[in-house]
Amino acid sequence: MSEPRATAVDRRASEHAVAGDGGAVQPIDVAAIQAQFPQLQRRLHGQRLSYLDNAATTLKPQLVIDRVARHYRDETANVHRGVHLLSEAATADIEHARGAVQRFIGAREPAEVVFSGGTTDAINLVAHSWGMDNLLPGDEILISYLEHHSNIVPWQLVAERTGAVLKVVPVDDDGDLEWSAFERLLGSRTRIVAMVHVSNSLGTVTPVERIVAAAHAAGALVLIDGAQAVAHLPVDVAELGCDFYVFSGHKVHGPTGTGVLYGRREVLETLTPYRGGGEMIRSVTFERTIYNDLPARLEAGTPHIAGVIGLGAAVEWVASVGVRNIAAYERQLLAKAVAALADVPGVRIIGTAAEKSAIVSFLAGNIHAHDVGSIADRNGVALRTGHHCTQPLMERFGVPATARASFALYNDERDIDALVKAILEAKEILE
Ligand code: ALA
Repeated sequence: MSEPRATAVDRRASEHAVAGDGGAVQPIDVAAIQAQFPQLQRRLHGQRLSYLDNAATTLKPQLVIDRVARHYRDETANVHRGVHLLSEAATADIEHARGAVQRFIGAREPAEVVFSGGTTDAINLVAHSWGMDNLLPGDEILISYLEHHSNIVPWQLVAERTGAVLKVVPVDDDGDLEWSAFERLLGSRTRIVAMVHVSNSLGTVTPVERIVAAAHAAGALVLIDGAQAVAHLPVDVAELGCDFYVFSGHKVHGPTGTGVLYGRREVLETLTPYRGGGEMIRSVTFERTIYNDLPARLEAGTPHIAGVIGLGAAVEWVASVGVRNIAAYERQLLAKAVAALADVPGVRIIGTAAEKSAIVSFLAGNIHAHDVGSIADRNGVALRTGHHCTQPLMERFGVPATARASFALYNDERDIDALVKAILEAKEILE
């Protein structure tokens, strides 16, 4: 098992400028961060809560909760429609959120930020809108074994309807992409490369710069699934040069039901709207509809207004803490967690890539992952167990399920201690 390479995140952090997140890495005040998350005050089965299920969803700071509540309490109105003050204010608020996301991910302009219902929704938008217009029989879509089902199934759906073919880059025993296979599978028929930035199951950080460069050199577009990345690693989409970058609001301390499709303007402009309805039109007759400009043309219907405003507040908050600072802190947590688990006999970590985010999937001897999860729960430790919506990846490693601890900036060593104690208890009871 290889230790996480101590310099990997630092190097990545120092190489990438993130709007609103400049300067050298600073230590974060974890106690002050924890105090901003009311859910951390509650107890689980009478125990201190160790929330280690951040890859599933992140907790919300009071500031985000307050922002969403304020909208519903004082500011409810529909957007882009009314001339009354409330509607104009709500429109300004949602466009403020778009600007906040633009700065957070380094998009060139607000119109490149399309709000979606989440990562899954955004990938489906691209797969169906771009895919149905551009894929021909025999064209290839390149994904990897690391993908979440949400970056597999939408492509299968569109492949079935267009005759395109799904190609899959394997991973090695550490959970790294096999780069030679990537190069072999990337060919003149590859139309799009759709790959995860950080694996939700293993924590592997993929070489996105290299992926984008290679895909573009082959004439393919690139979509990066950043659901597990944006709260944990600096991301600058303009510098990265990807065509699409997608993420979910709820994994970056924002509301559920919100998400982002970033697209390069030149590519977004070619997309046929995926959903029709209000707001995405300029004019409608029964004979013909003229679509609105970006981003409205891809945002049919009333958006999740309060949620999007909350998402804007969330990314502004994360940027104020500093993604570089978060990355550096979580790297320390990862190293401590890996070291602590290495001391527990029989624990096997699945996913030992050199570049990892703070996600640790593991098996505890022959104990079923669900039993580990249940005993952890009784100890106040919230883990996810199962296949993590990555069944092909689990099959690759020959396991039906793992227990997974996924960290965020409010976790500390007490959470690692509680995790280890729970695993030891599970071993004592079940082995
Ligand atoms: N994709 C989320 C996870 O990994 C739900 O838990």
